[in-house]
Amino acid sequence: MEEKIIKKKRIFSGIQPSGELTLGSYMGAIKNWVALQDEYECLYCIVDMHAITVRQDPALLRRRSVAQLAQYIACGLDPQKNIMFIQSHVPQHAELGWVLGCYTQFGELSRMTQFKAKSQQHADNITSGLFTYPVLMAADILLYQADLVPVGEDQRQHVELCRDIAQRFNGVYSDTFTVPESFIPKMGARVMSLGNPENKMSKSDPDGCVFLMDKPEDIMRKFKRAVTDCEMAVKYDKVNKAGISNLLTIYCAATGKTLEEAEAEFEGQGYGVFKPAVGEAVVELMRPIREESERIMKDKAYLESVYKEGAAHAQYLANKTLSKVYRKIGFVAR
Ligand code: TRP
Repeated sequence: MEEKIIKKKRIFSGIQPSGELTLGSYMGAIKNWVALQDEYECLYCIVDMHAITVRQDPALLRRRSVAQLAQYIACGLDPQKNIMFIQSHVPQHAELGWVLGCYTQFGELSRMTQFKAKSQQHADNITSGLFTYPVLMAADILLYQADLVPVGEDQRQHVELCRDIAQRFNGVYSDTFTVPESFIPKMGARVMSLGNPENKMSKSDPDGCVFLMDKPEDIMRKFKRAVTDCEMAVKYDKVNKAGISNLLTIYCAATGKTLEEAEAEFEGQGYGVFKPAVGEAVVELMRPIREESERIMKDKAYLESVYKEGAAHAQYLANKTLSKVYRKIGFVAR
């Protein structure tokens, strides 16, 4: 039988270790990453260099970066199948970031909606790093010639900018970078804040946010307090019943049930039954992940071997791109 070798498409994505991973990052991102790991060649990064665009506590940042790796693994990401690494361990990100900044317009960065939002939130500390952060993100992606970038809706504009930078560079110097596409998976659940269901669940809003490492009693308390509405019906209606719709989304993502099944299950029952049921489903979903993370966190040598191997592999790939770039722009070979 003839064997066909089909090159797998490459994926790059990352999450900032600027806070604990949330139920939103699990249901909206990591769960999808796990589903992609067999079909694609994936790089999953802990983007610590992005995290310092706003002030971080050094000890916490260090602890969270490693904890995030343990949690990636506990969620089902296999270090044998994916390249998992810490961004600052691969200096090529910073190097390519500098180069790409010289091919990015000030005006383009000024139009980034996340910059506008974050500079309002951190009005006393608007650094140039916060401003040029999308350039570093472009470097993350282009270094590895990634084809696809799974991201949430809020990152689409940054991936668009990355494409523009890649096309511009390719136009000046001939084909250098794969022009990536953002990849917003259909099955990803967009989890909203429990306290404020108009907004995305965010680690900056701890009350509306369930963390992957939350204890069962904290998860239950957060779900029992979740904002609903003054009706009675457990029905999906995003416009008029944002809170209940969000809880239904979470319930379905946690149990694998369809919306119709979930609505039927709670037909005629009030929120006093529904909310704890969602909480319990999430507790059961998170329990093995939390226990496995705690176990892996104790094995420092294992974690170190994973991020070291990840960085070595990533550096090998990154160097190929970076030397090509340096040659094309006219730097003297070292
Ligand atoms: N900017 C992304 C976020 O805040 C994280 C990120 C950094 C990223 N580099 C990336 C995501 C590259 C995808 C690809 O969510």
